[in-house]
Amino acid sequence: MIETGAQPQGGKKVFVKTYGCQMNVYDSQRMTDALAADGYSATERMEEADLVLLNTCHIREKAAEKVYSELGRIREVKREREQAGGEMMIGIAGCVAQAEGREIIRRAPVVDLVIGPQTYHRLPQALRKVRAGEKVVETDYAVEDKFEHLPQPRRAEIARRGVTAFLSVQEGCDKFCTFCVVPYTRGSEVSRPVAQIVAEAERLAAAGVREITLLGQNVNAWHGEGPDGAEWGLGRLLFRLAEIPGVARLRYTTSHPRDMDDQLIAAHRDLAALMPYLHLPVQSGSDRILKAMNRRHKAADYFALIERIRSARPDIAMSGDFIVGFPGETDADFEATLDLVRAVRYAQAFSFKYSPRPGTPGAEMKGHLPEAVKDERLQRLQALLAEHQHDFTQSRAGMRFDVLIEKPGRRPGQKAGRSPWLQPVIVDETAGEIGDIVPVRIARVENSTLFGETA
Ligand code: 5AD
Ligand code: SF4
Repeated sequence: MIETGAQPQGGKKVFVKTYGCQMNVYDSQRMTDALAADGYSATERMEEADLVLLNTCHIREKAAEKVYSELGRIREVKREREQAGGEMMIGIAGCVAQAEGREIIRRAPVVDLVIGPQTYHRLPQALRKVRAGEKVVETDYAVEDKFEHLPQPRRAEIARRGVTAFLSVQEGCDKFCTFCVVPYTRGSEVSRPVAQIVAEAERLAAAGVREITLLGQNVNAWHGEGPDGAEWGLGRLLFRLAEIPGVARLRYTTSHPRDMDDQLIAAHRDLAALMPYLHLPVQSGSDRILKAMNRRHKAADYFALIERIRSARPDIAMSGDFIVGFPGETDADFEATLDLVRAVRYAQAFSFKYSPRPGTPGAEMKGHLPEAVKDERLQRLQALLAEHQHDFTQSRAGMRFDVLIEKPGRRPGQKAGRSPWLQPVIVDETAGEIGDIVPVRIARVENSTLFGETA
């Protein structure tokens, strides 16, 4: 990995707007790091930016549309800046960039640069071409390792980002669920090597990070060769990362049910630093629909897996993703999803109406459902999920557990942290410093926020 150490020169500013998942949040940070080496500092104000970057998401329809409407707004800001004698370059990064490529510049000529998720380490070179008057489209999959070419963030920058951090360990997906665009936009599954991940985690910890969330489109498919020469899975990697001084909490997301192996389940049983929270999307509770989605597991397999995980770690909070209205979904299929939800009782969940993605097999299937049917199903599912989520939150009242203090609270006199189950917890500011892990008793629950007093 490249060390920069250099201070930003020239006072150029970049405004980055991030859409979509945590992976994009991480990518935006790494793009910011790459640009810091090129003299850019980040700004929260688009009006003062020399470069505006939209890091986009393509998972569902509205995301791409939002980008195009945002570009309309940016065009106005750019015009005002140019009238005042300034300049503004506009770049589109992320999955919409990868999927649409040059089409973006055709539809929105104000865009100077389109750069995919596999090539953003080339951002400084691409910007040089833009400055020379070229419109640049960089969406080929790079043969070189992006992470080897990306500068590491400065220590002060890591500290500014807070005591929790994302660390991408795996990218891409080989599962080809028939609704999903990820295997096309992010490419096939790649795991980062152990040494690279450990070095990045050590650097985060040295700058004060206490909690690391490992990221990957299919994070539990991560595998690599350990220093012992043995093949490691994610469970083994988590044990290694927990040895790093300062690292107190570990999480990972997103996982596929097929890749939950015994080693990882054992980590949930034996590794205190691994937080009792698991995002394990199932998408549907109907075997017929799971098959059409190419999920390669049945509802009963999923449920049995959760039983195994829960017997290893009884207090684990389950989280999931659901799609309603996949082509051909009948009332009975949808009822099967509700049944599965009732059986699992998720602490948190994300649910979506099926959105046909061009180029995916689902988009070509027969039996697309009317919007009204999808709307009605989504409402019913969300009402049920909200009920369970509410029950889970309420069940923390009176409990004692450790809270990682993350930031000042919204109100004076308060600090905000998180429970082991990822819930926001408000404590008195005297409870501890940011980065401390303090024992707390939950005195009351208001809406979805827990209020803790020092135990
Ligand atoms: N339509 C609706 N939801 C989708 N997801 C992925 N692709 C689609 C689609 N075409 C959802 C899945 C996935 C989450 C990240 O987004 O539930 O787990
Ligand atoms: Fe998409 Fe399925 Fe891969 Fe998840 S596992 S990224 S839903 S193809």
